[in-house]
Amino acid sequence: MLDPLKKLGFMAYGRFRALRGEPVRFRGAFASYDEALANVRAGRLAGYDHDSVAPVSQAFMQERAPWDYPVLYWLQRLAPDIRCLVDAGGHVGVKYRAFAPYLDLDRLQWVVYDLPALVRAGRAQQRPQDRTLSFVERPEEAPSADVLLASGLLPYLREPFEELVGRLASRPRHILLNKVVTRDGPTVVTLENFGLAEVPYQMRNVYEVPAALQTLGYEILDEWTIDQLAHRIQTHPELGRCTYRGYVARLKG
Ligand SMILES: C[S@@+](CC[C@H](N)C(=O)[O-])C[C@H]1O[C@@H](n2cnc3c(N)ncnc32)[C@H](O)[C@@H]1O
Repeated sequence: MLDPLKKLGFMAYGRFRALRGEPVRFRGAFASYDEALANVRAGRLAGYDHDSVAPVSQAFMQERAPWDYPVLYWLQRLAPDIRCLVDAGGHVGVKYRAFAPYLDLDRLQWVVYDLPALVRAGRAQQRPQDRTLSFVERPEEAPSADVLLASGLLPYLREPFEELVGRLASRPRHILLNKVVTRDGPTVVTLENFGLAEVPYQMRNVYEVPAALQTLGYEILDEWTIDQLAHRIQTHPELGRCTYRGYVARLKG
């Protein structure tokens, strides 16, 4: 908790940066996804679903970062029981490629569910060795899966997470979430600067995702935080640092 004087100082500095129009990574603090979307600046594309946005950060996401290793550990551990995995927000198959050296991908069906522009890019980039990779634009089109992976999706997902899971053919036995951005106070939506686009980015109240998992009938088996990724919204630093989290959950019963 910031003392009031420090908070005032943070606020003044953040708004000063906003007024000067500094090219910050995170700008604004809004109450909802739609409010953030309505505040995208003129001349910028709004949101992720554009062909020209697909290449942003692709090379980086296709590598294994330190925070991918808990996911890789759990995928290896669950591997004997996985026939089909749905990778929601899987982009062009970045994690399929990043994890390929460490998973026997020929044994499982890896289905990326993403927005239409990303699915188009993913299909166009498919290589002969991506034998078990496929793409769908709607969760309903994915086959029944043993695992739902959502790595880096939650900051960008407009619909409630419960709704996404409800649209799948059946409840997967395990859910693996990574890079869920959380904060102690109420959920805040900011705008992430992608250069050519601004994309609504949600910092969720810390209890939101565990509550959603419980409502869906899952118990959390493991969780972690990713301290290297913590940051503030540059125009609203008084809102505090966010915490990136990961969860592994199993369907009860
Ligand atoms: C930061 S990327 C994550 C890529 C990769 N999974 C990773 O961990 O590096 C976020 C992805 O979420 C996707 N996304 C955003 N909203 C979505 C939605 N409603 N349904 C499916 N995917 C969505 C974006 O298109 C993008 O590919």
